[in-house]
Amino acid sequence: MAVMVLIGAQWGDEGKGKATDLYGERVQWVVRYQGGNNAGHTVVLPDGQKFAIRLIPSGILTPGVTNVIGNGLVVNPQALLQELGELERRDIDTSRLLISADAHLVMPYHIAMDKVTERYLGKAKIGTTGRGIGPAYQDKVARLGIRAQDLLDPSILQQKIESALELKNQILVKVYNRKAIDPQQTLEDVLAQAAQFSHRIADTRLLLDRAISRGEHVLMEGSQGTLLDVDHGTYPFVTSSNPTSGGAAVGAGIGATRITAVMGILKAYTTRVGSGPFPTELTDQWGEYLRKTGGEVGVNTGRDRRCGWFDAVIARYATRVNGITDYFLTKLDVLSSLDRVPICVGYRVNGGAGPAAEVDEMPLTQTDFHHAEPIYEYLPGWFEDITGCRSFDELPANARSYVRRIEELSGSRISAIGVGPGRDQTIVLHDLLH
Ligand code: GDP
Ligand code: IMO
Ligand code: MG
Repeated sequence: MAVMVLIGAQWGDEGKGKATDLYGERVQWVVRYQGGNNAGHTVVLPDGQKFAIRLIPSGILTPGVTNVIGNGLVVNPQALLQELGELERRDIDTSRLLISADAHLVMPYHIAMDKVTERYLGKAKIGTTGRGIGPAYQDKVARLGIRAQDLLDPSILQQKIESALELKNQILVKVYNRKAIDPQQTLEDVLAQAAQFSHRIADTRLLLDRAISRGEHVLMEGSQGTLLDVDHGTYPFVTSSNPTSGGAAVGAGIGATRITAVMGILKAYTTRVGSGPFPTELTDQWGEYLRKTGGEVGVNTGRDRRCGWFDAVIARYATRVNGITDYFLTKLDVLSSLDRVPICVGYRVNGGAGPAAEVDEMPLTQTDFHHAEPIYEYLPGWFEDITGCRSFDELPANARSYVRRIEELSGSRISAIGVGPGRDQTIVLHDLLH
């Protein structure tokens, strides 16, 4: 039995979809535990077919896997139906998708609130995906949320929509000068959508517990990444959930002691979408080089990703806050053809009120992180095409040294290396499912 949590170790888009897909054939369950359709995972199947997955677990692409949308997610019914439709049109079997009765719903008014608040923030905006994720989590915590199980009881649903809209409409109309949202229309729309997926609503906690007790393998697929975590990330430039490994137990409803491995997905360089601090960001031609070579454009919103060199301070932090047991280092192939490859090993910070200092852990304050100046170490590059390598020994010596140095600095072993987007373009050093 293995319960493996797979999490992003940076700011998202590390290649989690590819990693889930790689293990998909050997697990019985793939579970998402947080986020919503703000995620965008690209998976390239062996026959070259490319899929962009947003809300549904990436395990949907592997026949026989049961996929779970856990209680920790916020589900947009319209986006769910759209994604199911896209998959079905491409002959993917979607019958094995379950939704926790306690997952929350993203309602049209959440999307409206996301957009108006971002506009209102102006320059200070977070750069959200505009999918209503933050406002849906706000309602969850404010105890005004609507859950999947409410779809099974239209009179409760009506009451909840009416009470949520009472305040929202005041804000939309009086503060933001927008049109009020009609509760009756909202109810009718969501009931029509629910009729198409309510058969998937289940007690997924119980099903998972039983499956784990039977010895089945479960893969918990994180979305976003450690530094987008609302508690451990670069707050307030974060998403509104907990992608870190602790969030997996909460967002899937399994006991923390059930988790057997935590795999961090780590890109061989760094990217970020949206606003917020990013010490190794490159605004020169090298940033453009990484963006072009790595194809760094958002799956979900089509925004260019900000790019920078590998940051070992962040990786070490991710190892610590997630208890990462293994790393999957992705996109090593993108770094081929550089004379030398920089790795950020620490920062120069001004220490807030204190004296300037060199640090190799995350600074205490966000202000220091914002102004942190990276300290680089330079490793010799390699020029060979490594996309066909399937064992560690086949990699050029300098690529091997780069991997070993990252391993040393991040403090956890590297168990897999991505050398291309395809499912088979992976070097496995340690097998985690046994
Ligand atoms: P996710 O959100 O973490 O699932 O990552 P995304 O799918 O948003 O972004 C990762 C991108 O890198 C996708 O286009 C993947 O197909 C691609 N990718 C993943 N692993 C590798 C790799 O090892 N090499 C290359 N060149 N591309 C990869
Ligand atoms: P995957 O799962 C990268 C970012 C947004 C914004 C911040 C808050 O593909 O790695 P939100 O809409 O969640 O309130 O936006 O988080 N963000 C992501 N960045 N990858 C993602 O998902 C992201 N999901 C949200 O750009 O900065
Ligand atoms: Mg992504």
